[in-house]
Amino acid sequence: MLIMKRSLTVLLIMLLVSTAAFAQNWNHEVMIQSDFENGNLDGWEPRGDKGAEESLTVASNAKHGGRRSLYISEREKTWQGPRHMLTDNAVAGDVFRMTAWIYCEEGPAKSAFVFSVERSFKDENAGHAYSNVKTFQVPRGEWTKVEAEYTVGDDPTQKNIWVYFELPYKSDDMVEDSDRISFYVDDIEFLKLDPESRPKAQANIPNLYDKWISSFDVGVSVTSTEVDFTSQTAQLLMKHFTALVAGNAQKIDSIQPVEGEYNWAMADKIVEFGALTGMRQRWHTLLWHQQNPAWLFKDPDNSNRQASKAVMDSRLESYITTVMDRYSFDVESWDVVNEVLNENGTLRTGAQGSPWYDIMGAEYIDKAFRYARAADSNAQLVINDYNLVSNPQKRQGMYNLVKGMLDRGVPVDAIGMQMHISLYDPPVSEVRETIELFGSLGVKVLVTELDISIHRNDSEGTIVATNAILEKQADLYRDLFDLFKEQADKGVVDMVVIWGATDGGSWKNDFPVKGRGDAPLLFDDRLQAKPAFYALVE
Ligand code: XIL
Repeated sequence: MLIMKRSLTVLLIMLLVSTAAFAQNWNHEVMIQSDFENGNLDGWEPRGDKGAEESLTVASNAKHGGRRSLYISEREKTWQGPRHMLTDNAVAGDVFRMTAWIYCEEGPAKSAFVFSVERSFKDENAGHAYSNVKTFQVPRGEWTKVEAEYTVGDDPTQKNIWVYFELPYKSDDMVEDSDRISFYVDDIEFLKLDPESRPKAQANIPNLYDKWISSFDVGVSVTSTEVDFTSQTAQLLMKHFTALVAGNAQKIDSIQPVEGEYNWAMADKIVEFGALTGMRQRWHTLLWHQQNPAWLFKDPDNSNRQASKAVMDSRLESYITTVMDRYSFDVESWDVVNEVLNENGTLRTGAQGSPWYDIMGAEYIDKAFRYARAADSNAQLVINDYNLVSNPQKRQGMYNLVKGMLDRGVPVDAIGMQMHISLYDPPVSEVRETIELFGSLGVKVLVTELDISIHRNDSEGTIVATNAILEKQADLYRDLFDLFKEQADKGVVDMVVIWGATDGGSWKNDFPVKGRGDAPLLFDDRLQAKPAFYALVE
């Protein structure tokens, strides 16, 4: 495995670069810069059809900077808003960075605004394509800065690109007053970033896995963009990690958005990358109560009703079998169920968010594992959950649940501890106790989603990652990995997966506090190794 990894790395390290990290200090070309101070619309135009279009005017009653801003009013549809041509010559891989300020004095306390992209094609009959790049929450009465990056996709048939601002899409018959609000935009800037100044993965640092591979594999969760072989993030993944899982692309809302219509593209891309680079692969997750498509729990004949137990049972079996049949050759470790426990250690019911329990009763868990074993007799079948270390009641609940499953002959091979933890809690001693408790059941223990938030709790405001904080984080990563090694050498810990490659891509930037930046991983936004990385390779 390692030999294959190395030679591929050497080959691929020479390929071109591209990455999604934010980067103020790139060289750039200004594409659009509108402060509306000269009183004209500066190329911004309404999206609505001629005769029924929204109104765009330069206003002087509200402004972010200077004396004027752009005012959008008389909106009837969610998608109505200002649009501007970005380029009439789309070039795959070009990266554009948007900054703007939005203000509204109508509607609810907070409104969502969407930054989107419209594309035309060389074939004029092809129609236009629309994609939502990023959604922002804008509090009423507060000028709010919005920022996003857009990378032109690899599509030789595309031609023009427009950028626009709108509200989240609703069909016309669903539109309410809150979707028709007027708003202001100001100080809009679109820069094209020079690829030569894009952040690069560091070549002259040790490979992370080298120090740990004799005891356990170090894995990482990825997006389908990060595994583009031409991206710098892919170079980083190949250099440092020996195991792989998808952060979102393997969840059922990605795989089967519409019943019977499988969308394999993103999962395929990730699994292919893992196979080509010799990584061990995990799947996350076959069953969960979140990130499910709308159809999943609905009666096939009457979408106002919940599906019956028999229908859910057959959906469960067919989903697990279909997915495992496709990927069993490459994926060895499967999160069969995710987050089935409450904080008090009991099973999560419908009231706590899980229709699975309400419709099928407690046995859905056993069934999921039996269907998975029937689909692949060699797969490592994992039950995955969070707060297992920090919450002793939930830890005990997991122990009891798995013990019961083993007693009933249910094929569960490992307990996955997510470990989304904080710099301040839980202590390493509790991690050891948890691993030892689970290990006493004779199952493997996996660390499936490790990240270390620099925040203490959900109510703390944004903390700046000072050197002292990053050093403390490094110490905790080192202490944890030393413990994982100790427990791997005893045959208990099998794999340690970090939930994301770089701080810029971490889900913790939006969770549990929307927009509160975090720095929980080993590499920063610019792909540079943090003190935590060095602590793990020294
Ligand atoms: C998170 C992803 O990282 C986010 O991108 C997504 O918006 C929400 O889900 N526990 C899990 C993971 O089991 O699936 C979650 O991943 C993080 C918490």
